[in-house]
Amino acid sequence: METDYENRMMTGDPLPEDDGDNPLRPRTLREYIGQTKAKENLSIYIDAARQRREALDHVLLYGPPGLGKTTLAGIIANELGVNFRITSGPALERAGDLAALLNSLDPGDVLLIDEIHRLPRTVEEVLYPAMEDFTIDIVSGKGNGAPTIHLPLPRFTLVGATTRAGQLSAPLRDRFGVVLRLEMYSPDELSAIVLRSASILGVPCDEEGAREIASRSRGTPRIANRLLKRVRDFAQVIGGGPVTRQSARQALDRMEIDELGLDLVDRRMLRAMIEHYNGGPVGLETLAAVIGEESVTIEDVYEPYLMQLGFINRTPRGRVALPAAWQHLGIPYPAGPSDGQMTFDVGPDK
Ligand code: ADE
Repeated sequence: METDYENRMMTGDPLPEDDGDNPLRPRTLREYIGQTKAKENLSIYIDAARQRREALDHVLLYGPPGLGKTTLAGIIANELGVNFRITSGPALERAGDLAALLNSLDPGDVLLIDEIHRLPRTVEEVLYPAMEDFTIDIVSGKGNGAPTIHLPLPRFTLVGATTRAGQLSAPLRDRFGVVLRLEMYSPDELSAIVLRSASILGVPCDEEGAREIASRSRGTPRIANRLLKRVRDFAQVIGGGPVTRQSARQALDRMEIDELGLDLVDRRMLRAMIEHYNGGPVGLETLAAVIGEESVTIEDVYEPYLMQLGFINRTPRGRVALPAAWQHLGIPYPAGPSDGQMTFDVGPDK
């Protein structure tokens, strides 16, 4: 278990400061910046459910960490005017845990199951009839002949959140009526989020300062907000002034976050691929061992942004560092056998 929070600055994983009543979390769709397509469609589904006075259909939100899945689930509950309950796949260890939770819901409530891909199989099986027919079957007593009690549940909305939609079983995935993929945010959207957050926190921050933070936040609002807080610390203690382009640059350089938002781990990974494996292909497990990170962290946290930048590719034979990555690290890209171009296997994503 990683406990060195300073080193986790760029992962997008939640930190203690992201929890609970985070004042930076938008509460309504109007306040929520970005994810335009998902937001517009959700807004229609929410209005329709409200007009029909029905529970909203179950919603699956997927995408890399830190893009606002929990925030959006909270907004759905708020916009519907119902209670918001949160749990997670690994927290629901036994079927009884889920049964008790479902039984405690009020009609229309929104239940978020975060990391739903980590739900134990036995618990997942209780979820199927709960999602489809709003009932659960509870076996009372032991043995083959024990009677099954058919318990009706209030109609509720399940919001499933996952970084790994591909790991959901087909029966579970098929029971979500609304499936939304969250995309990485553009620099304009992230700048708007930084300015909004700065205003809530009472941090003086100009447009260029916000843009500097945005451009190094790897498309992720949670990282942008975290960097804003650290840049504020530097600006306050060293610069004694507001967040500007210059003070933001100074602070981010001191944190060793480069102009593209890559941190030490990103650069160590790219360097390992290039210097030890001549750019790859190199297998995920080998890469994980070489840089001392877990392979799931590499897949969920580091790779999505590096792929978005066009720095790496996933191929059937392993990961490959693309020319842009060599260039970014200032390492000359080797000339190919005939035409100066290397060829790569381009295969389906793993
Ligand atoms: N804070 C974090 N994510 C946000 C978003 N998408 N819109 C507004 N503020 C945010």
